[in-house]
Amino acid sequence: MNIAVRYYTRSGNTKKLADAVAKTASVESKDITNPLAEKADILFLGCSYYAFDVDEAVKQFIIENKDNIGKIVCFGTSAMMKSMKKPVKKVADTVGIAVAEEEFHCRGEFAKIHKGRPNEKDLADVSAFATKVITE
Ligand SMILES: Cc1cc2nc3c(=O)[nH]c(=O)nc-3n(C[C@H](O)[C@H](O)[C@H](O)COP(=O)(O)O)c2cc1C
Repeated sequence: MNIAVRYYTRSGNTKKLADAVAKTASVESKDITNPLAEKADILFLGCSYYAFDVDEAVKQFIIENKDNIGKIVCFGTSAMMKSMKKPVKKVADTVGIAVAEEEFHCRGEFAKIHKGRPNEKDLADVSAFATKVITE
């Protein structure tokens, strides 16, 4: 099974999760400026909310890499929202890519709230999540 990890981050929160997922999956953690060179059966895609949506660059990444994505598994951080799946699925649906039901989401530090998140527990939890996805 071919696994890839890509993420978009503005302040580094989502990169922390991405690095933990990538370490668990024994692959490289790369941001979305790196296109998928070969087909990923599972793409762990990390992103966050900015004004109630994912960044346009995330949407473009999904569209431009559609031929190399088997299934997307979402992970992400945010200050208030609880899931990344809706905005990701909205784009993935337009190009016929499946988005897994399961996802990982946790709080991310923003201004003066959620200090230190994601924290060590979040990183342990996202690693356990990645292990479960990979071994299912
Ligand atoms: C400009 C901006 C807009 C944001 N809008 C939202 C939002 O609509 N909903 C939410 O839950 N969090 C929002 N956040 C908080 C981020 O999603 C949160 O800090 C996240 O962890 C950032 O991840 P990153 O460090 O990987 O970029 C916003 C943050 C910024 C900087």
